Amino acid sequence: MPQVFPRSADGIARFVLWAVLGAFISAVVLGTAVLRSGFLTGVGQAIAQPVPFSHKHHVGQLGLDCRYCHDGVETSSSAGLPATEVCMTCHSQLYTNAEMLAPVRASLASGKPLHWQRVNSVPDFVYFNHSIHIAKGVACETCHGNVDDMPLTARSEPLSMEWCLGCHRNPTPNLRPPQDVFLLHWKPPSDIAEIRRRLISVLDIHPETMTDCYVCHR
Ligand code: HEC
Ligand code: HEC
Ligand code: HEC
Ligand code: HEC
Ligand code: HEC
Repeated sequence: MPQVFPRSADGIARFVLWAVLGAFISAVVLGTAVLRSGFLTGVGQAIAQPVPFSHKHHVGQLGLDCRYCHDGVETSSSAGLPATEVCMTCHSQLYTNAEMLAPVRASLASGKPLHWQRVNSVPDFVYFNHSIHIAKGVACETCHGNVDDMPLTARSEPLSMEWCLGCHRNPTPNLRPPQDVFLLHWKPPSDIAEIRRRLISVLDIHPETMTDCYVCHR
């Protein structure tokens, strides 16, 4: 039989096979990295807003409490966003002509609320409730990060089912006394392990049922 391919073809075929396999493995590794990175989960990506509202200025520098603007957070499922009037308690006197605040003035004049872009959201088939987490000693910063360092707000956690379950399986290391949930850069006291053990019973937390599907899908 005449030789169609030179002897070196064997080596080339092997090289091609290895190259294909190598490319496949890198694609899988890269794909996983992309899925876990902020690229798809949105973690760490600041979102452009109609007004460049800064938590860094209003919380970090002015020291405003979260409840000043998110007043539903202790009593209802949603934290809520502030009405234009809340901004105007200060901005009717401060920066009254700033171009940046033109949409705020227009909103007050027309009575149409500002259209803030959502930063955090879960799909409709997921039930989430702020007031329960706040009452049970889960802090804003545990789920939203240090907003006082954010000139524009970004998501700090993936909000995936696996992320929720990670805490619901074992909430203890994430608890703090409920009066401290609004604090940022909180440093746990040295007897925190003992405090957390007590909180589980005082706050009547039941980790054994927290991963049941109906808790979040009802
Ligand atoms: C002066 C008012 C004000 C105060 C005080 C304030 N916020 Fe906000 N917050 C806003 C406004 C306005 C938005 C919408 C624009 C944006 O996303 O940055 C917002 C958005 C957010 C969002 C993103 C909402 C979404 O779409 O998912 C989070 C999380 C948040 N705030 C947390 C906090 C926390 C935690 C505190 C207290 C440490 C706080 N905020 C204090 C006004 C305020
Ligand atoms: C308690 C008073 C107060 C309230 C309420 C308040 N602001 Fe401000 N805001 C300030 C002050 C003071 C500054 C100047 C901060 C600086 O330059 O250090 C400022 C600055 C700003 C700026 C200029 C950019 C920046 O961050 O320096 C924007 C935009 C702004 N505020 C938007 C808003 C919006 C939107 C609301 C309502 C959700 C709001 N503010 C509510 C006091 C307030
Ligand atoms: C256990 C995690 C968790 C904690 C604790 C938490 N949040 Fe949220 N937050 C979320 C999730 C999840 C969403 C998206 C909810 C949705 O899509 O319905 C959200 C949405 C928001 C929003 C957008 C408006 C809304 O109500 O949906 C604001 C504002 C907000 N959170 C502020 C706060 C503040 C302020 C605190 C602390 C007092 C806080 N959150 C504590 C998980 C948390
Ligand atoms: C850092 C911890 C933590 C994270 C993250 C967290 N949770 Fe929770 N969650 C708790 C604790 C603690 C409770 C109180 C459980 C209890 O009282 O037995 C709770 C309670 C709840 C409840 C109320 C259960 C009831 O009593 O009816 C719902 C609903 C819920 N979580 C949904 C979610 C969803 C959805 C997410 C993710 C988007 C999430 N949680 C993320 C800690 C967390
Ligand atoms: C602590 C809250 C929580 C519990 C408990 C929970 N889920 Fe979920 N689930 C979520 C969240 C949040 C999402 C949305 C994830 C996303 O948007 O990426 C989700 C999404 C889903 C989806 C859509 C597909 C997907 O993976 O995104 C299915 C199916 C699902 N859950 C089934 C279940 C089943 C079955 C159970 C019980 C074994 C369960 N879940 C328990 C929070 C929860």
